[in-house]
Formats: sequence, structure tokens, C-alpha cells
Amino acid sequence: MIEISQLSKKYGTFTAVDRLDLVVPKGELFGFLGPNGAGKTTTMRMVAGILRPTSGTIRVAGLDLATDAVAAKARLGFIPDRPFIYEKLTGIEFMRFVAGLYAQEGPVIERRAAELLEAFDLTEWRDELVESYSHGMRQKLIISSAFVHRPDVIVVDEPMVGLDPKAARTLKDLFREYTRRGHTIMMSTHTLEVAEGMCDRIAIIQRGIIRAQGTMAELRANAERGDEGLEDIFLRLTGDTVARDLVGVLDG
Ligand SMILES: Nc1ncnc2c1ncn2[C@@H]1O[C@H](COP(=O)(O)OP(=O)(O)OP(=O)(O)O)[C@@H](O)[C@H]1O
Ligand SMILES: [Mg+2]
Repeated sequence: MIEISQLSKKYGTFTAVDRLDLVVPKGELFGFLGPNGAGKTTTMRMVAGILRPTSGTIRVAGLDLATDAVAAKARLGFIPDRPFIYEKLTGIEFMRFVAGLYAQEGPVIERRAAELLEAFDLTEWRDELVESYSHGMRQKLIISSAFVHRPDVIVVDEPMVGLDPKAARTLKDLFREYTRRGHTIMMSTHTLEVAEGMCDRIAIIQRGIIRAQGTMAELRANAERGDEGLEDIFLRLTGDTVARDLVGVLDG
């Protein structure tokens, strides 16, 4: 569903994403992990078609983003890490607005919007302006809006940030069920337990390069110890040794 080939992005002379190859098959919940500044957001913004690659190709549902952008984007929903929402819309109006971007409206959309708002405990806020929403409520509204038009592919950048435990559970269940029904989700996260618990496959990116990818079992097969968890694998691969001498840091 998502095919990324030799994808690079340079900001000036700095290479944020370096000849990245990645395939996410239909029906997969794919986890995209990596340290801060590794290139996750940059990659996902390119897949969503809102950032132009320096080189390389991206296909969504077989459609080349460079030559078939409109058709490709019609198959895709993107949930950014720092979303923009019109403050002067109500929750339900925002849902209709997003569906409208995909030329969808009517009773089916109304029903789905109502069900999604209910699932995320936003029903009583549906007619309130977004400007009165808390951080987590906005996040839940944005996530809901990506599902209302049922895109084949959802690309979502750090969806768990700011969600309370119940919303986090709802999101996990929704993502799992959505992929079980044959849709595809590519998700970045820093919450390794979440990735380990719910993703079919995982890629670990560092400094714009994929360091490892596969199922948890495949990643473990390359582990140094049989009991290595994702956190150990992640820290070993990214070479980000945890500051050994924190006392020294604090003494300075
Ligand atoms: N508009 C920009 N101009 C210049 N450099 C940028 C720009 N956007 C991102 N970068 C750089 O590209 C690199 C990758 O950034 P990116 O936001 O993709 O990382 P990330 O993996 O999403 O990190 P995080 O986990 O902190 O969200 C970083 O070094 C960042 O400083
Ligand atoms: Mg990011």
C-alpha cells in the first residue's frame, strides 16, 4: 500500500532522510520508530504529499505521488503531530469539513462522525467550538476526523501524545480493528511498549537511515540476547547509550 524507494530529503546541505526504502503491505499496522530528529516526521510528511522529496519515489495504493498526486492523496489520511484546526468550527463541523475535503457528505458521514465522537467521549462537546477544547480533546478530534472518510491508508505522527489512558486504549483498538479490516496504517511513536504490543512490523530509523525493520520476532532474531525487549534493541541499534554518568551531568 505504501512503497517508498530511495527516498531522500535534504534541508540545504543537511540530509534528513537518506535513500530510504520501505514497503508497507495492505492491512498492516506499521510502526515507525527512531530518536528525536531521526527523520520520521520528514518521511511521513513526504508520504502524505505535503513535503516534496529531494529524490526518490513514493507510491500510495500503486499511485505515484509525484505524477498522480490527487488520486494518491484521495486514498490517504494524514494525522500530523502538530495539527492545525480551525478554532471557529465546532467538533462536528470539523468532522464534516474533513469529509468534505474528500468530497463526502450525507447520512453515512453523519453516522460515522457521531460514532467516532462517541468513541472518544466527545459527544457532549460536538457543538462546542474547537477553541474551547483541551489539548487531548483536539488530538481525539483530529484522530476521529481521519477515519470518517475511511481512507485506505492512514499516516499518523505520534498519535498517543497527550491522550488519557482510556483514549489511548480506544485508539489502539480502533487502529487494530481498522487494519484487521484491510486498511493500512503507518504510525510513528516513541512509546515502545505500544509499538511492541500493537504493530505488525516495525522500522527503526536513525539519522535518516533505516537501521532495522521486521516483526518483533525478526528483530529479536538479530538480538544479542534472547530476552532483548524492543527498548534494548532500539537503544543498541541507535547507539544512544543512556547517559552513564548522570551524576556528572548534574555536578557540572
Ligand atoms: N524545515 C526544516 N528545515 C531544516 N531542517 C529540518 C526541517 N525539518 C526538519 N529538519 C531536520 O531534519 C531532521 C529530521 O527531523 P524530523 O522532524 O523528521 O525528525 P523526527 O524523527 O520526526 O523527530 P522527533 O522524534 O523529534 O519528532 C532533524 O535534524 C531536523 O532538525
Ligand atoms: Mg517528529
